[in-house]
Amino acid sequence: MNVGVPTEIKPDEYRVALTPAGVRELVDDGHAVVIQAGAGEGSAIPDAAYAAQGARIAPDAPTVFAESSMILGVKEPQPSEVALLEPRHTLFTYLHLAADRELTEGLVASGATCVAYETVEDDRGRLPLLAPMSEVAGKIATQAGAFMLEKPLGGRGILLGGVPGVAAANVVIIGGGVVGMNAAFIAIGMEATVFVYDRNIDRLRELDTAFAGRADTCFASTLAIEERLPDADLVVGAVLVHGARAPHVVTRQHLGLMKRNAVLVDVSIDQGGCAETSRPTSHADPIYVAEGVVHYCVTNMPGIVPHTSTYALTNATLSYALEIADLGLRDALQKRPVLRSACNVLDGRITHPNVAAAIGAQATPPETLV
Ligand SMILES: NC(=O)c1ccc[n+]([C@@H]2O[C@H](COP(=O)([O-])OP(=O)(O)OC[C@H]3O[C@@H](n4cnc5c(N)ncnc54)[C@H](O)[C@@H]3O)[C@@H](O)[C@H]2O)c1
Repeated sequence: MNVGVPTEIKPDEYRVALTPAGVRELVDDGHAVVIQAGAGEGSAIPDAAYAAQGARIAPDAPTVFAESSMILGVKEPQPSEVALLEPRHTLFTYLHLAADRELTEGLVASGATCVAYETVEDDRGRLPLLAPMSEVAGKIATQAGAFMLEKPLGGRGILLGGVPGVAAANVVIIGGGVVGMNAAFIAIGMEATVFVYDRNIDRLRELDTAFAGRADTCFASTLAIEERLPDADLVVGAVLVHGARAPHVVTRQHLGLMKRNAVLVDVSIDQGGCAETSRPTSHADPIYVAEGVVHYCVTNMPGIVPHTSTYALTNATLSYALEIADLGLRDALQKRPVLRSACNVLDGRITHPNVAAAIGAQATPPETLV
């Protein structure tokens, strides 16, 4: 297969979808790899390092798309990239379609096969290609929240860990999955008072063991959240219903219960946001104030630490990319149920039930198309 890697063009996105180690494995399996010039620069990977492992360097994105049947990406394709997609392409990247009707319709119209990292689900219901970026985003969530709580940035002017004689800040994390747990560990490390809410009791049990008494776990009923919000200095929104638009666990009315200039970091913003008042922001302009609460809603949080994120992401994606390249997508979909769950769009049809539901369409099971 011809595998192409374009340079990411989302603002402040410095990750790249393949490292030289990945080029080596694809080339060793008999595939051709074409990398857009400068694609690895943001992650400090020079073109020469790719070329040394057998990749061809192409001058621009149209050349990469023209020469490749499989496109590896990091973030969802931007409009200029959707315009380059054809039915012969397999796109393998983060898509987050449930929150983006326009992109969903664009991908359906392109005829390309679109497989989303975030909906690859293993037989234990885990999301192995979302997890590494969720680990990064969870850790950034607390760091960013601590920063935004500083007065000059619009926050309440409170130090997460407090000092002797002055209480620590209260950090309320809603959604105790990979993001939530990592946000909690950083908050614990910064000596904040930490509460983690989830609706999955088994998950709360796991967290309780992992925290060993250093954070409280709480069942995420609406009432319990309402009762906690008035004390919160930093709220981290980290809920996920696989493939679906995020549920609004924090409403506009809830914000009225919170302290003025408290901070809400809505990590779930890539799935539409778990607060009613959330709207996407960028690293260049990460915050806005709604109902007196500072909102941080950056959709590509791991993009600012590409040295960590590129390697964490590609360590997880490479085996799946190799499998699709080695077997060909249709065979891979037949042989590997895990990839079937990840297929979002195939032959101009939406194949993921939650993506289809988000735009009021009917899903076509991928197995009926291959
Ligand atoms: N903004 C970014 O840059 C960025 C980066 C990585 C991940 N994310 C997003 O962060 C979100 C969380 O990802 P994750 O990997 O931690 O997912 P996860 O599946 O590991 O965890 C989600 C948790 O939410 C819980 N949950 C679901 N509905 C709930 C509800 N109503 N109330 C309370 N808890 C509820 C689930 O039980 C689960 O434990 C996703 O939307 C993901 O796409 C964003």
